[in-house]
Amino acid sequence: MLYLSAEDVESLISMKEVIDTIEIAFGEMAKGKVIMPPRTTVMLEKYNGSISLMSSYIPSMDAFATKIISIYPDNREKSLPTTAAWIFVNNPENGQLEAIMDGTYITALRTGAVTGVAAKYLAPKKSKIAAVFGCGVQGRTQAWALAETLELEMIRVYDLSEESMMKFSDEMTEKLGVDVIPSVSGRAAVEDADIVATATTSPSPVVHRKWLKDKVHVSAIGAFYPSYRELDTEIIKDSKLVVDEIGSIMHEAGDILIPINEGVITADHIFCELGDIIIGRMEGRTKHDGITVFKSVGVAIQDSSVSSLILKKWLKTQ
Ligand SMILES: NC(=O)c1ccc[n+]([C@@H]2O[C@H](COP(=O)([O-])OP(=O)(O)OC[C@H]3O[C@@H](n4cnc5c(N)ncnc54)[C@H](O)[C@@H]3O)[C@@H](O)[C@H]2O)c1
Repeated sequence: MLYLSAEDVESLISMKEVIDTIEIAFGEMAKGKVIMPPRTTVMLEKYNGSISLMSSYIPSMDAFATKIISIYPDNREKSLPTTAAWIFVNNPENGQLEAIMDGTYITALRTGAVTGVAAKYLAPKKSKIAAVFGCGVQGRTQAWALAETLELEMIRVYDLSEESMMKFSDEMTEKLGVDVIPSVSGRAAVEDADIVATATTSPSPVVHRKWLKDKVHVSAIGAFYPSYRELDTEIIKDSKLVVDEIGSIMHEAGDILIPINEGVITADHIFCELGDIIIGRMEGRTKHDGITVFKSVGVAIQDSSVSSLILKKWLKTQ
């Protein structure tokens, strides 16, 4: 059985390739050309964790994969990753298991990449300043994908842990060739920002409407429980709201479900899915748009598309 470690994956694929693949996969979903049952999540409240199962099939890519992903926010205290994943890739033609891959790095890559794709269509033109909340594993690939997609001059970061923020700033300044600067507060991080990405484990808002300038794009990927959110109600209310997949969002995304339960918005407030914009069915940012929000809880086609490409690239090296 082929096993690809995180290091194998890293040597086989670039962020640019992941962004391109994710864009195609979301386009396929918008055309109704994927099979993707809802994610099943088991909550393990005793341990403050959850384990989910995500399967999908993309015929045009001949891609079938299943991911097991666990989210344990307290793991950092045990020097274990908050988000850990394993991906099982089956051959769609005969059903046989072809590879098992470390899915932790792939998850971070594809979660960054979807923010990159959304920024391509929704970020204000000539965006120069980005703010990233959460200096953990996902925060790194959020910053990376934004730097890959936009011509950024500066990335400001904010985390509750000063140590994580300092480490992130040094590491990512060197990796991205863009100034990555720690902030004294969340408010200071978003000041003048053209684009904001949130990738925290926080259950309550880390960004507030009153901090944002008029034209800004916000990508929120951290929270995926109905009771968790990273953006306040006012941001959602005032935004052109784009999501990764409406069914998953209405099941999992507190960022949207809480304002709905408060009676401030209805489900109709969701403008469209990202794929609708990719295939030209709906418009991305226009000159009339102020705040745009992309909310992602993560969907299985991100994993099947990227793991399939990795397997194809590995086979070529043999
Ligand atoms: N949407 C998706 O597809 C997707 C995929 C993977 C993970 N996630 C989610 O992303 C989140 C982050 O995951 P990770 O693996 O990077 O975790 P991580 O533990 O590596 O990083 C999280 C960071 O958030 C910081 N943080 C927590 N509360 C904060 C606050 N109020 N303000 C600022 N910073 C705060 C922590 O200090 C930590 O540095 C998790 O909630 C996870 O469920 C989403």
